[in-house]
Amino acid sequence: MMKKWWMESVGYQIYPKSFFDANHDGIGDLPGILSKLGYLHELGVNLIWICPFYDSPMDDNGYDVRDFFKVADIFGDIEHIKAIIREAHQLGIRVILDLVLNHTSDEHPWFIESRKSKDNPYRDFYIWHEGRIKHGKKIEPTNWASFFGGSCWRHDPQTDSYYMKIFSDKMPDLNWENPEVRQAMADVAKWWLDLGVDGFRIDAVSHLQRDAFVDSTLTDDRYVLDWKKFSNLPKVHDHVRWLHNEVFEPYDCLTIGETGGEASIEEGLRYASFDAKALSMVFNFDHNWCNNLWSIDDPKDLKTDVIRLKQVFAQWQEAFKGQGWLPLNWLNHDQPRLMSHYGSRAHFKASGKMLATALHMMRGTPFIYQGEEIGMINHPFENLQDFRDIASINHYHELMRKHPDADLAYIIKKVVMTSRDHPRTPVHWDDTRHAGFSTVRPWIDVTPNHDLINIADQMQDQDSIWHHYRKLIQLRLTSDLRDVIIHGTFEMIDVAHPSLYVYKRHHDHDQLLVVNNFTAEHVIWRLPADRVTAVIIQNYPDVDIRHQTLYLRPYESIVFKTEAHT
Ligand code: NOJ
Repeated sequence: MMKKWWMESVGYQIYPKSFFDANHDGIGDLPGILSKLGYLHELGVNLIWICPFYDSPMDDNGYDVRDFFKVADIFGDIEHIKAIIREAHQLGIRVILDLVLNHTSDEHPWFIESRKSKDNPYRDFYIWHEGRIKHGKKIEPTNWASFFGGSCWRHDPQTDSYYMKIFSDKMPDLNWENPEVRQAMADVAKWWLDLGVDGFRIDAVSHLQRDAFVDSTLTDDRYVLDWKKFSNLPKVHDHVRWLHNEVFEPYDCLTIGETGGEASIEEGLRYASFDAKALSMVFNFDHNWCNNLWSIDDPKDLKTDVIRLKQVFAQWQEAFKGQGWLPLNWLNHDQPRLMSHYGSRAHFKASGKMLATALHMMRGTPFIYQGEEIGMINHPFENLQDFRDIASINHYHELMRKHPDADLAYIIKKVVMTSRDHPRTPVHWDDTRHAGFSTVRPWIDVTPNHDLINIADQMQDQDSIWHHYRKLIQLRLTSDLRDVIIHGTFEMIDVAHPSLYVYKRHHDHDQLLVVNNFTAEHVIWRLPADRVTAVIIQNYPDVDIRHQTLYLRPYESIVFKTEAHT
């Protein structure tokens, strides 16, 4: 059985701008992270992923990197990250960073050079193309849309050509066909590994190759978001394997590729099976959108597709059984808050705990996104001015263009439902002004319920969601059930049940039965023949079993230790 340190980890994702502001300028920073390492240790995690803090004009909050080797002034300096690595390691916490391979900022020196002339030595660091003439007018080389709206090409007057940018205008895509680019980015990764980091979450890794520049015919929109034109194309795998051999392998580091929604399970295995010798794991998002969020007009109509969610989990678990390893995460900095998605306001504690248990008891490496451990919920954004995220702002303009006669409140409501700003509001440390995140007004408004949902209160309350997360982490990392939770097999049972997500874990003599009610309904469920020997973790004060039948309350979740009947 393959055993790696990162299989025996529980990760915590930090979005630096919103985590903790130590210098009181309204923006979270590296000293803020440093000062909260003790907190993370107390929660029990042994791995942190820190989102970009590199020098950047912050068009996309740091994913637009201007200098890969420098810390942005707003976040601190290189000594701070060195201190974070050192002190985290002393606490037994490993540190991974975001490695942004697909693009740079347009203010990166390579791009400043590249755009100067067609024969500049850096010209081929990026993807340049001539425009086409249509109806006597110069237009983009293809009709492909960018993820953040509009064309994925941007005209540059200096050389009258177009550069490719699948995210924002200020994020030109690197040309991975160019060996100099590959080497330069390998050097970036090595530099950070030599500084002591334990690996990377690799941003947008699936986009390192583009298809032939031919128009998409998916729709007849002016710009078509046709992911296949720049996702998971064959050479991406070559690049990733090359990085593995050239950079990652000698360091025994963790590499998690962000492959997004377009990577099938087969693709996932091509990136991250043990045999692929490419990445350690991939973040897919298939389980993140198992509801009707994108098709409804009102959050009141939100409904979780439990069957679909179960299928997605079970299919990935099944495919990776013995073949590879999966991260387990409910959300990240790009997705709405979990509790406003699959959780329930009416059953706040029960649903927050159930969601945690359902995820943390599976096979894989759990990742908690900051604030998830207390059940933070979406922000009630009401005006365009309240948004900070470029994708949300562009989404608003796109909707206004498409529906010029629509009611403004309707447009805002649509943008709010999927906005990436929800997970980026400041962490609620306590119930004081600005949620204990800062002493001044933060760069993005605090969600106005920090008096009810905050870390200080939940740490005091033994029955809180926070303590539930802590217990789950302890069970996984330090209890005598560690082996079954980490390495045990996974088997979903009662596959067709519309409300319950039930699975078994098994390792040597240990066997667990994990029962999760994903609904606000009471559910009566016949237990399998195995004998229940103990309750390991639950989210109600008691467990109602009568005659081998389980009487479950809304969002109830129980982990049983069981023994096969002999
Ligand atoms: C994925 C990151 O998670 C997201 O926040 C970012 O905007 C894009 N990649 C571009 O770097």
